[in-house]
Amino acid sequence: MSDLPTHILETIASAASLPLLSSKAFPTVDSLHVKSALDSLASREMITYETVDKEEAELTDEAAGIVKDGSHEAKVYEAVCMSLDGLKISELAKVVGASSAKVGQGKAFKEGWIKKDGDRLLKAAPSIKDVTRENLRIIQSTRTHPDGATLTDLKKRKLVNMVKRISFKINKGPKFATQIIKEETDLTAELLASGDWKSKTFKPYNFKALGAPANSGALHPLMKVRHEFRQIFFEMGFEEMPTNRFVESGFWNFDTLFVPQQHPARDLQDTFYISDPTIADPPRDDATGEPLTEYWSNVREVHEKGKYGSLGYRYPWKADESLRLVLRTHTTAISANMLYKLAKNPKAAKYFSIDRVFRNETVDATHLAEFHQVEGVIADYNLTLGDLIGFMQTFFAKMGVHDLRFKPAYNPYTEPSMEIFGYHKGLGKWVEIGNSGMFRPEMLEAMGLPKGMKVHGWGLSLERPTMIRYAVSNIRELLGHKVDLGFVKTNAAVRF
Ligand code: PHE
Repeated sequence: MSDLPTHILETIASAASLPLLSSKAFPTVDSLHVKSALDSLASREMITYETVDKEEAELTDEAAGIVKDGSHEAKVYEAVCMSLDGLKISELAKVVGASSAKVGQGKAFKEGWIKKDGDRLLKAAPSIKDVTRENLRIIQSTRTHPDGATLTDLKKRKLVNMVKRISFKINKGPKFATQIIKEETDLTAELLASGDWKSKTFKPYNFKALGAPANSGALHPLMKVRHEFRQIFFEMGFEEMPTNRFVESGFWNFDTLFVPQQHPARDLQDTFYISDPTIADPPRDDATGEPLTEYWSNVREVHEKGKYGSLGYRYPWKADESLRLVLRTHTTAISANMLYKLAKNPKAAKYFSIDRVFRNETVDATHLAEFHQVEGVIADYNLTLGDLIGFMQTFFAKMGVHDLRFKPAYNPYTEPSMEIFGYHKGLGKWVEIGNSGMFRPEMLEAMGLPKGMKVHGWGLSLERPTMIRYAVSNIRELLGHKVDLGFVKTNAAVRF
């Protein structure tokens, strides 16, 4: 056989009327190959074509046998007719075959074609019409049957199968020919010099071609959502905090935040302690390198004895515990550091950060030992809890969360504290979306912030909204070694 496109052209040229070419015309090629050959001919305008999808009825092997020799019941009837004084039932299988005897006998009785007399079968109808065979003949020649019920019945009897047949209705195109002319793809210097360009056929440009996929980098979904959060923060006048300190001392991570040294959050379950080195130098001023002696003793005093109107926790505060190195458990360690700096020149300020924090938790479908925390703090004179609630409503509305509920909660460093719940329309329920509060005077006044200055803070995870946005139910598909790069590359940008 010549190649497929040429074969198609020749078939069309020799056809008396324009053919409906079914893939059956090329039993060795599948319809996809036929289609791609037709597409290439159509792109050269040699043909036009349309695809015709049809369901056709096809006879099973058993049905083909019935068309040839008659139905099982007709065979039984004929065998009975042939015997002069009836056919012994025990002989039937020998005459018509075991399978025809089994199916055909019952049907022939039902139709009233035969009857029983002792151990013999007798003829009961003067003549019969083999309807099954007739129907199958119709299907054999037309590939369907005018009566739907008959067709359904034959399908049930496993005599007919429905098959999908793809056909192509082909017409000659404006540039029809039986030969495929090689098309030039480029106008070269040689073609110009020789003058051959005048007689050559050029391949038209395919402006619809998709082009090779460009190999490019892609932002991880978490980074896309982070980008959206940063936009919201910048739009609301926030300044980004420097969060490049994954390792902190207990001082910044806990003590400055008025977290007592025996607090459960500090124990070995939640905190990763650094083993080498284990201890930090005493805290210093980032700019001058001077030890923070006064702040250090304020923190000690407020824990141990109480200060600034607070009773304190009344326990022996240990410097060693405060100097232990930890992987930061929250970015609030950075907020504390920023607020301490702000205390040198107190004024209204808005800070945010989005970065990693680490917690020694059991890893499961929704928890990793590290995650990203989105955190914001607002410092101003005379702020109230109402301001915090109002701000949260504005902030979360920008993420598309309009219904909020607040529930009293506990943080060692904030009073009052509130958990924030948002109504998730997709999930149809209230989900916890953040934690917030007003920082305690024990924390702020120890830094040297003036009494009238209040500071709001709140935090949430970046993973939670990202998982909801990208419909990821297992966090390990989002972060870690199980992440599918295809997932990272193909996910759409996010807009809240
Ligand atoms: N640090 C808190 C957390 O880990 C979040 C928070 C920040 C709460 C600031 C109140 C104020 O969830």
